[in-house]
Amino acid sequence: MPKVRITETALRDAHQSLIATRMSTADMLPILDKMDEAGYWALEMWGGATFDSCMRFLDEDPWERLRLIRARIKNAKLQMLLRGQNLVGYRHYADDTVREFVKRAVGNGIDIVRVFDALNDLRNVEIAADQVKKEGAHLQLCMSYTLSPVHTLDTFADMAQKMKEMGADSIAIKDMAGLLNPVDCAKLVKAIKAKVDLPIELHSHYTTGLASMTYYAGIEAGAEIIDTAISPFALGTSQPPTESMVAALANSEWDTGIDIEKLLPVCEHFKGLREKYKKLLPAIAGVNINILRYQIPGGMYSNLVNQLKEQNALDKLEDVLKEVPVVREAMGFPPLVTPSSQMVGTQAALNVLTGKRWKVIPKEIRQYFLGYYGQPPAPVDKEVQKLAIGDEEPITCRPGEKIPPEMEQARKDAQPWATQPEDALTWIMFPQVAKDFLPKKYARVNKRDVGLQEQEHEAAYPV
Ligand code: CO
Repeated sequence: MPKVRITETALRDAHQSLIATRMSTADMLPILDKMDEAGYWALEMWGGATFDSCMRFLDEDPWERLRLIRARIKNAKLQMLLRGQNLVGYRHYADDTVREFVKRAVGNGIDIVRVFDALNDLRNVEIAADQVKKEGAHLQLCMSYTLSPVHTLDTFADMAQKMKEMGADSIAIKDMAGLLNPVDCAKLVKAIKAKVDLPIELHSHYTTGLASMTYYAGIEAGAEIIDTAISPFALGTSQPPTESMVAALANSEWDTGIDIEKLLPVCEHFKGLREKYKKLLPAIAGVNINILRYQIPGGMYSNLVNQLKEQNALDKLEDVLKEVPVVREAMGFPPLVTPSSQMVGTQAALNVLTGKRWKVIPKEIRQYFLGYYGQPPAPVDKEVQKLAIGDEEPITCRPGEKIPPEMEQARKDAQPWATQPEDALTWIMFPQVAKDFLPKKYARVNKRDVGLQEQEHEAAYPV
């Protein structure tokens, strides 16, 4: 096995980051053979926002996408992104839902499950992790990288140790904002490697222009796997280009084993898709200097700009950006990823626009202070917490424990559409979308003769 391996993100993160997750299964199928021959370690192709997007915008069953890709990939591993107890949805789900989802994901073809939690609260990944192990799949536990006084080399290394104890087969460092610089990455990889002897995978975004330097420094320090995107879907808010990283490491001790010639057809195919979806691409693909100045994720920055524009208060942008660290500290320094980035940004804007800190506190932030999102990395500000929740008692247990089982009820509620457990899961996670989608799906399925289903799929997706 090559010393450095490549996970290709074109089928998940790259199109989620660049074209609002709109790539369809039909766009993917014709190139899968070539991708499978290219020598990738893994293809990240499921989870994250793809599940929702499949149904909501593409009228496709995400489960069917998984099965169709699985049927064509023999060499590379299939990898998905799972948001711990959030799965691929927008709230915490009950333990029985989490277990059933993991079971079905692996059963339908996922080899590697990357599991993370926005707050790095490992209790929120516990159930999913346990089920991944039970299903015999590769468990990759993933830390959300962030900068704060309480996120030190020691705390990340301790986290890696706990991940190993939970059965992790590998560890991912997820840098959503592209803020990890080469020097810090090398230190972080060394600190983790000193404690835990597991493969480390680096995941970053090119938003700040640092990611390929950061990968190189991380590899020098001992990281074994990197997430890259084929060049037409690389750079900007996506990953570093696969071809460039392969070339950078070629004929060294870190050779990826990928022959760049084999990437040519893959590159050509995705060039066509880039052209097809060019209207969705961001206007500017260059570096966002404000992300480097304020150390917040690109998505959070643009949300704030939009929010303030709507309120005719763009002149307050600088004040709001300065308020972000204040809010974040009061909330115990959550990593700035979905959903905490939205919460911190909204509260910072409210603090500035109302002229008084914590005068208005949205429901989500009350829930956060009540412990329903999990345990923040550091203790929260007690006075602010009191303002948010009054005399209510915050929970201290794993938030998932508070949610009663959901599967049985969903199977009933989703009748007559939930003929398979996969459909019941879809129903639980996206009730509104599922009500529209599942009947349509079954109307199509019912037209088919039994036994002709695979051919029908082939016909629906011209290869
Ligand atoms: Co990402």
